[in-house]
Amino acid sequence: MNNIKIGLIIGSLRADSYSRKVAQFLTKVAPPPLQLEIIELNNLSMYNQDLEKDLPAQWSAFRNQIKSCTGIIFVTPEYNRSIPGVLKNAIDIGSRPISENAWKDKPAGIVSISPGVMGAFGANHHLRQCLVFLNVAAMPQPEVYLGKVNTFFNENGVLINEDSKHFLEAFMQAYKIWLSRFANL
Ligand code: FNR
Repeated sequence: MNNIKIGLIIGSLRADSYSRKVAQFLTKVAPPPLQLEIIELNNLSMYNQDLEKDLPAQWSAFRNQIKSCTGIIFVTPEYNRSIPGVLKNAIDIGSRPISENAWKDKPAGIVSISPGVMGAFGANHHLRQCLVFLNVAAMPQPEVYLGKVNTFFNENGVLINEDSKHFLEAFMQAYKIWLSRFANL
């Protein structure tokens, strides 16, 4: 069976990011044939429409990486009740030129995380708003708002909270079914 590549976008550049730790767990529990690959955002410069005439190599590489994926999973924290700028910047870079919108028709899954109790609900839904415009079908259920995420890991950064592990495994199973509505698995 051929692997199906799913891009994993992490909305944090922080070295000790909880989002990254959750994303790493998802790579381990992705059901075959899904294979999750992290697409890094750290070398994307700020979007400037003038640069479309003299495209930064990192932008075209990023757009090609997105295009090479069958679907996308986002794991993001919340900054000031919205998505972090680094994630919005990546979405904007991938979206242009709009006739070649790299995100188009990539079925998405969304996980939002926070040390707070609301699980980054605001970021999760602001992200959904962007994806509507980009013609990305974001899986409606199960919604994943991981609150108190700072309590979920051992000293090695490994996810040890059993309820969250089961929930994230169920999320990945549901995402596979969601993807199968759009792509031959
Ligand atoms: C935050 N944080 C935060 N948390 C939250 O639940 N709602 C919010 O609106 C915000 N706003 C916010 C703004 C800024 C500028 C920072 C730096 C942080 C806290 C945030 O959830 C926390 O730092 C997470 O640990 C960030 O995710 P990573 O880096 O661990 O993946």
